[in-house]
Amino acid sequence: MPVTRKQLLLPLISALAKAGGEGRPSIVYDDIARELGLTDAERNQKTKADRTGKQHNVFERNVRWMRQTATRKGLISSPERGLWTLTDIGHDRLNNASEGLLVTIFETPHGHALWGKLETAVGHFEDRAIDLLFTSPPYPGAMKKYVNGDLDEENWVAFMMDMINGFAPKMTETGSMMLNVAETYAPGLPVKQEHLTKLRMRLVTETRFRVLDTLYWHNTSRLASPFRWVAQQRIRLKPSVEPVLWISENPFAKANNRNVLQDYKKPPTETYHKGGLRPGGHRMSATGFSRDNGGSIAPVLFSAGGSAGPKAYRKALKAEGLPQHPAIMPEALARHCVKLATDPGDFVVDPMAGSLTTAAACEALDRDWACIDSSLSYLAGARHKFPDREENEDLLDVFLNR
Ligand SMILES: C[S@@+](CC[C@H](N)C(=O)[O-])C[C@H]1O[C@@H](n2cnc3c(N)ncnc32)[C@H](O)[C@@H]1O
Repeated sequence: MPVTRKQLLLPLISALAKAGGEGRPSIVYDDIARELGLTDAERNQKTKADRTGKQHNVFERNVRWMRQTATRKGLISSPERGLWTLTDIGHDRLNNASEGLLVTIFETPHGHALWGKLETAVGHFEDRAIDLLFTSPPYPGAMKKYVNGDLDEENWVAFMMDMINGFAPKMTETGSMMLNVAETYAPGLPVKQEHLTKLRMRLVTETRFRVLDTLYWHNTSRLASPFRWVAQQRIRLKPSVEPVLWISENPFAKANNRNVLQDYKKPPTETYHKGGLRPGGHRMSATGFSRDNGGSIAPVLFSAGGSAGPKAYRKALKAEGLPQHPAIMPEALARHCVKLATDPGDFVVDPMAGSLTTAAACEALDRDWACIDSSLSYLAGARHKFPDREENEDLLDVFLNR
């Protein structure tokens, strides 16, 4: 099937990104043709002779047409003749901020939403400033959706170690990190990858970080995946639990399970009455469990359904033609973790913040926050969760074409 002009936008942007953000047309043509698997005939097809008798290469003319369209949309600029350069917004079409870029997209009384890569952003934080780093990184394999290059198991571990080591000096004495990670299957096989094992081994052998606790998010609405092993061949179960690794260099990092007490199922006096029997058959002491402590101590398991985000947010995305984030965590989980490890007024950072669930939780809980994502599309969409915001109008005007 012949390639239509419109289909050339992404290959054009990705060819420029691969060439380091800028390239000469001749190199870009060849890269796109390779990427699209054009035959020699398709690559070299000529137009009929024009009035001056000149024939033009059809494919190259189509790429130039798309370059002009992309320039009008603010995705490409031409600082010098014969050189095509990707703008920051152009980079974002690949969900990928350029190196060195860090821009505030909006701010609220409590926090800042920053567009950039965490690798760039980390240098902008003061030492000993962050009370909690709470984040949900992409899993291995999914990384290629978000960043250049395919992060396999080994590269994922290296990426996470760099992130943890980079932010380590930015954490307060009592600060901690909570990482909502996920188990995944090895490509093409019904066996688990060991990236989490390897990460924990490297933490223990190379750093002073230790696991304080592991929380488990039970995703009550998790679909059957990977489809092949779970739904089709029926040889594995739904991977409905995701660990949240809670790590710190300080074994006595700030933590208070009284902040996340759960409702008693029954009044405590009814459940374990004075001198009564516990479920295991042991006799209760006259004190201790019979006291009303305002709620029961939360277990490590936290149940909440997956989420597509609040309705108003989804409606606003549609209106602006922005993408729905593919991996939104429940805000209840973010609130639970933030309350467990911080106090009001503390400073929370999410360096891979997606649709800004962490920020929304912090805003509601009176914590200060800074959230970073390499995708402007996600941040621009997520701004609708924050009615009390002041936005970077200049940049959003260009990005949203308004
Ligand atoms: C699993 S999602 C986070 C979802 C988020 N917890 C939510 O509830 O919406 C991971 C995010 O990390 C971002 N990301 C990936 N690599 C990044 C990097 N190097 N720097 C900053 N953000 C990155 C992706 O754009 C993606 O939005």
